[in-house]
Amino acid sequence: MVEYSKFFSELTRRFRASDVRELLKMTEGRRIISFAGGLPDPRVFPKTEIGEIANMVARELGEKALQYSPTPGVGEFRGVLKGFLERSRVRIGEGDEIVVTSGSQEALFLASMALVSPGDVVLIEEPGYLAAINVFKALGARLVPVRVDDEGLDPEHLAEVLRMLDGEGVKPKLVYTNPTSNNPSGTTMPIDRRREVLELASRYDLLVFEDDPYSFFTFDDSVRFEHLKTMDKEGRVVYFGTFSKILTPGLRLGWVAGPSEIVSRVELVKQIVDLHTSTLDQYIAMEAIRRGVVERVIEKAKILYRKKRDLMLSALDETMSDFANWTRPIGGFFIFLRISGGIDMRSLFPKAVERGVAYVPGDAFYVTPGAGRNTARLSYSFNREEEIFEGVRLLSEVIKEGLASSGKA
Ligand SMILES: Cc1ncc(COP(=O)(O)O)c(C=O)c1O
Repeated sequence: MVEYSKFFSELTRRFRASDVRELLKMTEGRRIISFAGGLPDPRVFPKTEIGEIANMVARELGEKALQYSPTPGVGEFRGVLKGFLERSRVRIGEGDEIVVTSGSQEALFLASMALVSPGDVVLIEEPGYLAAINVFKALGARLVPVRVDDEGLDPEHLAEVLRMLDGEGVKPKLVYTNPTSNNPSGTTMPIDRRREVLELASRYDLLVFEDDPYSFFTFDDSVRFEHLKTMDKEGRVVYFGTFSKILTPGLRLGWVAGPSEIVSRVELVKQIVDLHTSTLDQYIAMEAIRRGVVERVIEKAKILYRKKRDLMLSALDETMSDFANWTRPIGGFFIFLRISGGIDMRSLFPKAVERGVAYVPGDAFYVTPGAGRNTARLSYSFNREEEIFEGVRLLSEVIKEGLASSGKA
């Protein structure tokens, strides 16, 4: 028998399969209400329009749309995308470039590949986006957590962390944030916090990764925000976006926009990885923007997800207010639940699944070992409206029993 592991590269020896994915295998083949995955509701997918557009694109534009295309993306599409971003108040400046990618996940990986060497310090929100954590870990970065509270990334803590690192002679390279409708915490950073983050980035000479899948369909005005990319005066923000939530994730279409010197570096990596993103998908998305399909998806998404968020919030109010608190998102897909008392939401997971409900144990989003045990991420985006109350009710029972058996109820 061949022993294969000796052939594995040094780089991929660092890669780990997500333990959350392993945990979620428990839910397979069961009838369960799952608040775990962050999937869009398929009811927002513009199936008919995509069908019509794909047909037109293949027949009428097929010579170009079915051909190889430039690495940074189809030129005409990048122009249309830039227009869309500007209408969405994301400023793409004179010195900026855009590279179209296979989802924003690829953009995040390529940009990190271009910028992060093993041992580099990356500041990451805690709790923070798991797939970003995994990218930075895979590349051998040293992750330093920065606290997220109910208003998102806390600039006071960021300042404290930066002072501490400075005292040790350590120079971090970048700070990663998902400032609007955060995954996993459901928080949105107000403008003054964003200003402080940019000031700190300037003082300590850092780059800022702004990961922004959710700002296009916020459905509540209670927090006023501006994109970091738009507020950035020095060219420190590298901005990541995606069509996954405003058209369909199946197209795998995202982008990175930022200072041309940095984005050209990303282009260089992309050329090695996959030459370019699907030309056909770019033509489809271009036509979807031009025909107003993306705008219509956004309007539909706002109505649907607001309704689902409200349902989950009122279910939580009704069933968990005695022993938990949670965030109140103005957009996106997630509510972050914190249980008062010493409960371990990871060990409780199999019981919850047995009872018919799933979530993501919150500690998965923490880089500090052992932190976040009493937390969970709940997604309201995918489940049917009538399942939301029932799922929260089931979860509240499991948590109450867990608290009782640990003597903390
Ligand atoms: C914060 C964040 N960044 C990036 C992504 C990745 O999106 P994409 O489908 O474009 O790869 C997601 C998707 O859930 C996300 O929540």
